[in-house]
Amino acid sequence: MTRPLDLSVPIAVPELADLGLILDRAALGRGVFILGGTGTGKSASLVSPLLRALLAERAVAPVDERSCVVCIDPKRELGATLRAGCADAFEVDGRETPPLDVFAALNRDELDAGEVVDRYMSLSDVSMDSQRDSFWRVGARNLLHDCVSIDLHLARLAGAPNDAHIRRSLFWRGLAGALRAAERIAKAETRVLLSPRRPISRYLLLLRMLAREGGSTVQVPSSATLVQRVITQHAPDLALPALSQLPTLASETSSSLVATCSALVGALSSERVQRALRLDVLPPLRTTQVLSMVDRIRNGSVMLYQPSTTSAEGMTIARAVKAATYDAILAGAACTPEGAVQRLVAIVIDEAHEVLTSTGVSDARFLAVGRAFGSAPILATQSISAIRDRLPMGSHDAVRAIITNVATRVQLATSDPDTLHELRALIPPPPIPGPHVLDIRSLAQGLPGEACWISSSGGWGIGRVKLRPSTPSP
Ligand SMILES: Nc1ncnc2c1ncn2[C@@H]1O[C@H](COP(=O)(O)OP(=O)(O)OP(=O)(O)O)[C@@H](O)[C@H]1O
Ligand SMILES: [Mg+2]
Repeated sequence: MTRPLDLSVPIAVPELADLGLILDRAALGRGVFILGGTGTGKSASLVSPLLRALLAERAVAPVDERSCVVCIDPKRELGATLRAGCADAFEVDGRETPPLDVFAALNRDELDAGEVVDRYMSLSDVSMDSQRDSFWRVGARNLLHDCVSIDLHLARLAGAPNDAHIRRSLFWRGLAGALRAAERIAKAETRVLLSPRRPISRYLLLLRMLAREGGSTVQVPSSATLVQRVITQHAPDLALPALSQLPTLASETSSSLVATCSALVGALSSERVQRALRLDVLPPLRTTQVLSMVDRIRNGSVMLYQPSTTSAEGMTIARAVKAATYDAILAGAACTPEGAVQRLVAIVIDEAHEVLTSTGVSDARFLAVGRAFGSAPILATQSISAIRDRLPMGSHDAVRAIITNVATRVQLATSDPDTLHELRALIPPPPIPGPHVLDIRSLAQGLPGEACWISSSGGWGIGRVKLRPSTPSP
């Protein structure tokens, strides 16, 4: 018998009480955003205490109501808190860990090529300059989209062993052969391209080769012609309007497109990413043990992931962990069969600007709807500018949507004008016209642990957290 969780229960966090801030489970479900410059106390004063409180509550909760915790901790500041508060902490990024399936919570048969491509694109690193220009991302996306469409179409035709199976492999073999002839593809790449167990590598390598064709004078239409010739030969019933409509690219566009494609390939087909994630949209030929985020949430697990921010691979996996968590929550993993929230899933993301995404599995959308499904996002980052700088250009609305969809914001010292402006606009003006509270008490000079908070219900306060020794394991 499952029952809904009582969302009105307050979370006992003495450090937050120092600030005058009391959160119940429902408020936590609407999200907590912690902002503050480096060394201002985000981790020690706020994130760790919140985690300690959640874990203490979890330790005494009935098994079916236990909170689940997914913690993305690039700075490795939170591992000790998690381990101290939880005997069954589960390390997500260990070598021995089964791969995480980023499509597990989705119905594979209902995915279209656009959804698959969006997912891949949002997992890749977008920090490269050439990728800041969305034009290249769109170009790379379109090419990838065509390849995924063809393969998904052929895969669906090939439900039972029939000639579509053969056509599918002929398509890839023919295409690889044609490209090999055209470009003298390196042997290693050809092997990956032809590996039937790694569709993503195939798509991405193909994408790179299509973009690279002709060296510095890429002529995408000729690649399109090539693909079409292979299709006419091996799968004549496939309609490919998108390929025939590709624009002619000038030579200077090629290097940017190649850079975008190469970054995608590098991020998604690296050995580490392949080991940690099962990215392939198609069911693998050989079943390996796969970590399902849905099962982990249903078990109320605690997961710690500590990616390196200096490696594109680490951040790709971090985004994938986040995406899989969002998908599982939105698929109802934390709810009773009747749809009521059964347990909270705390998604704690430190250095959140490194992990937030504006496309594919977008944080803005998740924050807007996730609360109904038991999610409790706790995001910590240095400033709003840091988020804005990391998302691709043109993400202004996404940044705004992320900010406005988090109900409680705690602000430590910062000199970022964007962040102060956002906060100033939210705190009510004084009853007698005069300087704003933020001008009187400049957060630019705050002491560690000194914070100002504001909630979507209109409450706000200022205070300083008193550091407490961490409580021993329950
Ligand atoms: N409430 C507090 N009172 C006194 N000292 C504090 C308080 N909060 C944090 N500190 C001290 O400030 C230092 C930095 O804290 P912390 O690591 O939590 O900052 P941070 O904002 O997470 O920084 P970063 O962005 O670098 O991760 C620590 O040495 C910590 O002990
Ligand atoms: Mg920190």
